[in-house]
Amino acid sequence: MASIPNDFIDDLISRIDIYDVISPRVSLKKAGKDYAGLCPFHSENSPSFTVSQQKQFFHCFGCGKSGSAIGFLMDYEGLDFVDAVKDLAQTAGMEVPLSQSNKPQVSRNLYAITEKAARIFSHQLKSNNQVIEYLKQRGITGQTAKTFQIGYALDDWNGLMNRYEFGEHDLLAQSGLTTHNDAGKVYDKFRHRLMFPIHDRRGRVIAFGGRAIDADQKPKYLNSPETPLFHKGNELYAFHLARKHSDDNHILVVEGYMDVVALFDKGIKNAVATLGTATSDQHINNLFKVWDKIIFCFDGDRAGRQAAEKALNTALPLYLDHKTINFLFLPEGQDPDSYVLEHGPDAFRALCQQAKPLSEFLIEIISTDIATDTIDGQAQLFHNAQAHINQLPKGAFRQMIMKRIENITQHQFKAAPTQVPVKKENRSHSAVKKIISLLVNLPKLHQEIPEDLDLHAFEFKGVEIIDRIVEICQSQPHIRTAALIEHFRNASFFQHLAPLSQHYDHLDDEQKTLEFKDIMTHLQHKAKQNAIDALREKQMQFGLTTEEKQQLVKLLTSKVN
Ligand code: UTP
Ligand code: MN
Repeated sequence: MASIPNDFIDDLISRIDIYDVISPRVSLKKAGKDYAGLCPFHSENSPSFTVSQQKQFFHCFGCGKSGSAIGFLMDYEGLDFVDAVKDLAQTAGMEVPLSQSNKPQVSRNLYAITEKAARIFSHQLKSNNQVIEYLKQRGITGQTAKTFQIGYALDDWNGLMNRYEFGEHDLLAQSGLTTHNDAGKVYDKFRHRLMFPIHDRRGRVIAFGGRAIDADQKPKYLNSPETPLFHKGNELYAFHLARKHSDDNHILVVEGYMDVVALFDKGIKNAVATLGTATSDQHINNLFKVWDKIIFCFDGDRAGRQAAEKALNTALPLYLDHKTINFLFLPEGQDPDSYVLEHGPDAFRALCQQAKPLSEFLIEIISTDIATDTIDGQAQLFHNAQAHINQLPKGAFRQMIMKRIENITQHQFKAAPTQVPVKKENRSHSAVKKIISLLVNLPKLHQEIPEDLDLHAFEFKGVEIIDRIVEICQSQPHIRTAALIEHFRNASFFQHLAPLSQHYDHLDDEQKTLEFKDIMTHLQHKAKQNAIDALREKQMQFGLTTEEKQQLVKLLTSKVN
């Protein structure tokens, strides 16, 4: 991973204005001291997306997304961290000091390799009648082939390799386009295949899927291996096109390249495909960033139902109240490609309308082979349901499912205990949380930490995060929220920082300061009490030295101010 010095990031964030970064992309209106607009990360009718110039931070109250200008560019443009920083640096007229690590350079060159291959394949398609005929026969127009940059890999062991300079051969191998046998002989991985370039969310070519053209050619689909640019579990075929072309608030997830291409060709442009893998939570998260509703399309056969069950299990923990997941099972023997060719796009859209809601599919799964009209069956169903329900995040949807199952089974879920005993650690944890929240919200509060207060005396979990924040604030007294949070981008707790930073947004600066001082005073009292308790304990067990006695008297008579 390329590292860019924190100093540079601080400097960058202080020189640019997040408003200038977001306003060309999202229409913003002044709202109090902040700006508001329609969130670009989920679809909504009333604006819950806010941009704070004071904090240099954006936040959506609808979907919870938040971050700095860097975070915004990463999510909005699908950039990685280094590219987002570079983009911003360019507008600020700054040069990014990249560390020695040559990895980003390699990636950059790899894109050039894969992009070039896509151009070569696409060019080769234009002069091959057999392949053009194949596409025609599958109902794909030239325009669609062009949109998807569909191409053709020659029936030749070195057809592609020969098009690259010798100096590029290493990179070509790294991109998975060539491979070698045990004797070390290097040759093209894809030969005599219809080539589907796979793009990242930004639209750059990162890998390929190659379909056999002859009936006896095996395997039917050959895909690029995992490479520095390509991680199957992250990518979805045609994500960039679906984002560009669909105004819908829902996205179809299908199983094959040809399904996406055929649907697109018939005007259904909001489809993506998994790449021969199961749906991952990364996939679902990425889709929910753009769309509110996912419709998974599966074959109606057993394999399709199994895949659907897997997708359901992946989706459960990610299922939020304002998002929807439906399951569409096609008639046996059909896939979206064959269905849309045979019945047309309107029939397919009608099918989508009837897709099963996740709740219904869930209940169907847990009641498979159970006679729900018998007492034993109901108990069994209730038991099956429990594990699934535990997976669901707390919220209205979970409540609703529980109700449904209670109605079917005549069993009652245990009500959540009203009085959860607060563990000591939990309480201290919340103190740390509050302090961090306030510090990242209003960094200048670090000056309010009393000198004689030693937070380490409390054995709080996470106190080292406070130390680090204070250290940063001391070296940069004017740092603001966004830049402060960027220091922790690589930390395991990074994703929690932005939400924490918003915790006290409803207060003005003065109120925040009072709140912070309150916590400090409380901790001082506590520290004092702890010290007194410790000395008394020692007094009873072993007696105190003269010095300790004086200390105890001082503690007992002094006042925390
Ligand atoms: P299917 O076998 O359902 O093919 O594979 P398809 O999409 O209907 O393709 P056509 O219509 O025959 O051309 C679905 C997906 O599974 C992966 C591919 O990603 C494919 O699009 N797959 C399939 C492979 O990776 N390798 C294979 O050999 C077959
Ligand atoms: Mn098919």
